[in-house]
Amino acid sequence: MNILVTGGTGFIGKALIPALQDRGHDISVLTRRCDHPIAGVDYVQELAALNSNIDAVINLAGASLADKRWSTAYKQEIVASRVDLTRALGDYFHSADVQPSVWLNASAIGFYGPRTDEALAEGSSSGEGFAASLCRDWEAAATEAAGSARLCLMRLGVVLDVDGGAYPQMAQPFRMGVANWMGDGQQWLSWVHRQDAVSAFCFALESPKLTGPVNVTAPNPVTSRDFCHAMRQVHRTFLAIPMPGFVMRAMVGEMADELLLTGQRVLPAALAAAGFEFALPGLASALERIEAPSP
Ligand SMILES: NC(=O)c1ccc[n+]([C@@H]2O[C@H](COP(=O)([O-])OP(=O)(O)OC[C@H]3O[C@@H](n4cnc5c(N)ncnc54)[C@H](OP(=O)(O)O)[C@@H]3O)[C@@H](O)[C@H]2O)c1
Repeated sequence: MNILVTGGTGFIGKALIPALQDRGHDISVLTRRCDHPIAGVDYVQELAALNSNIDAVINLAGASLADKRWSTAYKQEIVASRVDLTRALGDYFHSADVQPSVWLNASAIGFYGPRTDEALAEGSSSGEGFAASLCRDWEAAATEAAGSARLCLMRLGVVLDVDGGAYPQMAQPFRMGVANWMGDGQQWLSWVHRQDAVSAFCFALESPKLTGPVNVTAPNPVTSRDFCHAMRQVHRTFLAIPMPGFVMRAMVGEMADELLLTGQRVLPAALAAAGFEFALPGLASALERIEAPSP
């Protein structure tokens, strides 16, 4: 298939593209950058420059939620980089000669908003807050843009790997010998190893019956304290210092209450029902893989 990947230069995209190429697909990447890091990929800076008809869209692009404080201007950038870009993709494909038949759109478990202990599947209600509203708007824009294509709304959990995403920051205190958790440590962390996230995208691409929201989270979410305990099995720590909520709020503002001090216990019900198998379903083995010396 000819696949267009937006945000293909990012943490997930740079692992996903080689996996798609290994499966024989041809990849185009819509990017704002001028560098061409992966051989064999057609990098374009505007849709009009695409060289071939597109069979599938994988829409990952968006300004990071964790990079900067959520000022009003940055919130607008977060929304525009997802919702406006998705609408622009829709406008382009609605007037193209050939429509894509599959559309995999990134979303996030932030859709469910801050929650307590209830297990959340794809049919669970959306929640409160900026992240939940962003996910709803992004999913609505994707539903419109995808038209008659089979659409999977890939609600990603916290994607873990050594060289990007949230993990390097989460691991930093442990690497200095200090174990920590945030707030009371009871909030849920629905994580997924990047290898399984990549496999889930490939699986969704190749599963004609899979459609609608798809939670991309490992089947064993943990609390923040459990995460700390698992990290202590792979890092030698000599101190445990919890990060109080007021410190987190002072450091990162509103983001603390939406992404760090609260969480959600999300289960990958749609993937399980479709027969997807996780290579790294448990946190201990995922962390061992992440921390293993590279060959
Ligand atoms: N990683 C996670 O744990 C996680 C969890 C939940 C949801 N997600 C979602 O999954 C998607 C992919 O995640 P990722 O971790 O691979 O993201 P990432 O590393 O931050 O990469 C996203 C890509 O989006 C493009 N981008 C960034 N800012 C942009 C802007 N202002 N306007 C237009 N494009 C912009 C960039 O591509 P160019 O520079 O090439 O244009 C960038 O490489 C994201 O939308 C993210 O919200 C990720």
